[in-house]
Amino acid sequence: MSTPSIVRTNTADLYDAHVLKNYARAPLTLVRGRGAQVWDDAGNAYLDFTSGIAVSALGHCHPHWVAAVQRQAGELIHTSNLYRNPNQGELARRLVGYAGPGRVFFCNSGGEADEGMIKLSRLHGVAKSGVEGKCIKVIVAKNAFHGRMFGGMSATPQEKIQKGFSPLVPGFAVGELNNLESFASQVDADTAAILVESIQGEGGINPCTPEFLLGLRKLCDEHNLLLLVDEVQCGIGRTGNFYAFEAAGIRPDAIAMAKGLGGGFPIGAIWISERHAELFQPGSHGTTFGGTPLACAAGLAVLDVIEREDLLAKVRQHSAPWIAALQQLATDFPAQLATVRGRGFLVGLQLTGDPAPYVAALREQGLLVVAAGNNVIRVLPPLTATPAELARSVEILRAVLVAKA
Ligand SMILES: Cc1ncc(COP(=O)(O)O)c(C=O)c1O
Repeated sequence: MSTPSIVRTNTADLYDAHVLKNYARAPLTLVRGRGAQVWDDAGNAYLDFTSGIAVSALGHCHPHWVAAVQRQAGELIHTSNLYRNPNQGELARRLVGYAGPGRVFFCNSGGEADEGMIKLSRLHGVAKSGVEGKCIKVIVAKNAFHGRMFGGMSATPQEKIQKGFSPLVPGFAVGELNNLESFASQVDADTAAILVESIQGEGGINPCTPEFLLGLRKLCDEHNLLLLVDEVQCGIGRTGNFYAFEAAGIRPDAIAMAKGLGGGFPIGAIWISERHAELFQPGSHGTTFGGTPLACAAGLAVLDVIEREDLLAKVRQHSAPWIAALQQLATDFPAQLATVRGRGFLVGLQLTGDPAPYVAALREQGLLVVAAGNNVIRVLPPLTATPAELARSVEILRAVLVAKA
């Protein structure tokens, strides 16, 4: 008789034995969340200012969201896109209300949304040049992040993301963020689109200036290029505008969104302007899971709460003193904290060295934050964070900066 295998009940052991080693994961097991707080399996509470990397827009387990998802789970969960479902139509209507006249395609993640926009650029290239495979160039920004699928990864000019996966999808050129000339100089007859994040998230919280976005809009209009904006991380209210590009007063040709849209339930979407929405015809794109009744119920609940609780105004109002307090930290600890960047609840602390020890020390003090590129710590409170919670985050940051001074 063979010896029975050891039954592992410890979560860390289970991970070590069975989960792919593609994350440098923190030694923390989270088991419960309410609002801006999460608890680990030992009962310790943390202020969750990662929001699951800009996902839990309403915090954890908002009662309206929970009720909507529970209700829908007991009604109808999935039907595929072979049929209509009322929630998808309603969510599309409401997103069009924020974005402008156009149409919405639902998918399941930010990566898929970006992939769909890149496919849109190819269709536009064919329509523009009349030739398949010729007009395919998409100009992206240095330090961009557009996901991990082949199109998005190829649009992500970062060695750590692309290494090992060649050959990449061809056709991507790279411009300097906020340098219009470096984009304009690369536009030629074979260029189909420009793709940017309104505020780069993974790259280290690098906002496009309004002038730059306005300049890109003009450039695209002059050369019949699509302006594709990736709002996966910075959209859905995180900056105090529903979409971050609104601050520049532009309207893109397509918008990718995900993360905060489901408030924790996986959903992604592309909005495409009326003018270009017909580029996709039956058969040219699709997904089994996108826009299920359940995912769209989660999305609708997020929009309900953003609207009913006036969260866009609250993010603007509460972020102003909070960012000022963070900037004061940069003034007080210049040897460690160089600058504070971002808008609303999408804030990056540019450290002078490696963020990893700071992220760990903050966690030990009860504040969860997430590192980004270029030695940046991202601080991403839920849109529902209270002034007291925001003030508490500053206290913890100050204590860690003092301890490491
Ligand atoms: C701007 C941006 N685009 C795309 C993605 C990819 O989204 P997902 O991880 O849902 O595929 C991310 C994820 O961090 C992102 O920040």
